[in-house]
Formats: sequence, structure tokens, C-alpha cells
Amino acid sequence: GGERKITINKDNVVTISGTETALNALTNNKIFLPSSCGGKATCGTCKFRLVDWHEPPKPTELPFLSKAEIEEGVRLSCQVKVESDISIEVPPSVLNVKPFFGKVIEVEQLTHDIRRVRFEMKEDFPFKPGQYLQIEVPGIETSRAYSIASDSKDLRHPEVIIRLVPGGVATKFIHKALMIGDTIKITGAFGDFFLQEESKRPVIMIAGGSGMAPIRSIIYKLMDQNMPRKATYFFGARTKKDLYYTDYFLDIAKMYPNFKYIPALSTPLPEDEWELDEGLITDVVRRHTEDLSGHEAYLCGSPGMIDACIKVLKEKGMPEEHIHFDKF
Ligand code: FES
Repeated sequence: GGERKITINKDNVVTISGTETALNALTNNKIFLPSSCGGKATCGTCKFRLVDWHEPPKPTELPFLSKAEIEEGVRLSCQVKVESDISIEVPPSVLNVKPFFGKVIEVEQLTHDIRRVRFEMKEDFPFKPGQYLQIEVPGIETSRAYSIASDSKDLRHPEVIIRLVPGGVATKFIHKALMIGDTIKITGAFGDFFLQEESKRPVIMIAGGSGMAPIRSIIYKLMDQNMPRKATYFFGARTKKDLYYTDYFLDIAKMYPNFKYIPALSTPLPEDEWELDEGLITDVVRRHTEDLSGHEAYLCGSPGMIDACIKVLKEKGMPEEHIHFDKF
């Protein structure tokens, strides 16, 4: 029993009674940290920083925390019981996150395993190009995170691009069960991966598979700004049947001389007629770029792809602080 205070980012105080996890206490007070495993310490997304912490992280948290994070007091909020007054730090964008209801108004099959879903919201859903939302999947207690693929000017119609993951409950639901007219719970927007809108540096974007999603949103924004800086988008696919939006981005490249689109196939099939680039995306990036010390990059895809691309970008002189990425 008793009351406890949680002070958030120095000036925001919520009072709770009873002992619960910090994640639940915050959610009950309408502060939504990302979380996609229902508090089971398997997603690692619900991080916050405990200011003046005394107790080390639990073994369950260790796989998700770097050494530096542990030293700074970063914890998984679902593993922290609030037993006394605490003071925490969360990314400022978290304070704008809230739950919404989204009605499915469009579904489009983009490839054999990738689909686009467009929602309609009753109220404005603000986000920065690159950020993600969480979808609550009925029947399972957890949410799943998906990058927003649409134009951030359109506050009422966020879109997601989702690949069907073999054996994945959530993506199976979205691909097989979700129908036009259905309404589902959406929380957002989350994430520190977004376009640095004020920057003047030329941009390198690299994506694979459904990593296309946040990059598409970023390109909408760059078009909105009339493409004031050079921007090159590399998209890696295995075979021709894994490609989508090819003409769409090639057309944008025709309209904006500053924009270049370089799709590449890593393992084209004999029947894939393909005149554009071939090879691993890292080799393609290497071939098409020179000194990148003044550029910034946005990467989205599998952890393996991202790590390999970061290496190439650094080889070409790009400083680490200008490499932004979102690992799927
Ligand atoms: Fe998934 Fe905390 S909610 S680790």
C-alpha cells in the first residue's frame, strides 16, 4: 500500500498506489512506453532510465542492455517494481504517444509476402517520418511494432507495409484475418529513428524488404521540401518477385534531379530480366558512392544488413553520429 511518486523527465509527476511494475504504472497514467511482449522481458523495447538508481538490472534484462546503458541506469520498465518514489527519464517523444483506433480502409498486396494496409483515424495521428506505431493484435496479449510508411502530412491515414513472417502470429493476423472495415487499436507514434528535417547533408538511404516502409515516409517528406539536398535510395531485394514500388521511385527520380533510386537484386533468378544493379547491397552501395564524410544515412532492414552497411558507410568516411538506423 501507500502512495508513490514517479517523476518523469524532471517535471512531470504521477502518483500511484500499490506496487506494480513501472511499465503498468505509467500505462495506467497514460504514458505509453513502447512494449511488444506484454511485460515478459522478451522484446526489450520498454526501456527507460532510472535516475539515482540503486539496484542492478535483473538477469532477464541483461540481453537487452548495453554496458553503457547499464552504467547510466537504463532498465526495462516492465521489470522494475515501483516500491518507493522514483525519478525516470524517457525520450520526450514518448510523452505524445497515445492510443488510437484505426479502421482499415485499404489493403494492397505489394509482393508475394508483403502487404500495405491503410488506416483511417478519427483524430489526428501525428508522427515524424521514420517513426513506428504499435498494433494490438486481438487474441494475443501483446502489440507489434511497424514502421509508418505514409506521408506525415496526412494525419488521418497512416499506412504500414508488413511482411508475412513464417510462423508469426501477428503478421499472419494482418495478412490473413484483417479485413477492410475492421477497427483495431493502434498506439504511437514511437521511435528515435526519423529524418533530421533541418539538416542540409546529402542523404543515403538503404533498405531491404519491408524496411521500405519508413524510407517511403522519409522520401515523402523530402519531396515536400522539394528535395533540396541530394538523396540516394538503395533498395535490396533477393529476386524480382521481392521488388515493389520500382517504377514509383524511378518516376520520382525523373521528377527530382537530386533524387536517385538504385534497386538491386542480390540473387536474381535466370528468368529475372534485370538491367539494373546486381549483387549484395553493400557492394552496390560501395560501387555507387565516393567520399561520404559530409553525408547522413538512414538504414532500415535486418540487423545483419544494417551492420554490414554501417561498415561500408564508415569506410567511406561517414561519421557514426550521422548514421541513423532501425533494425527489424
Ligand atoms: Fe517487452 Fe518489457 S515489455 S521487455
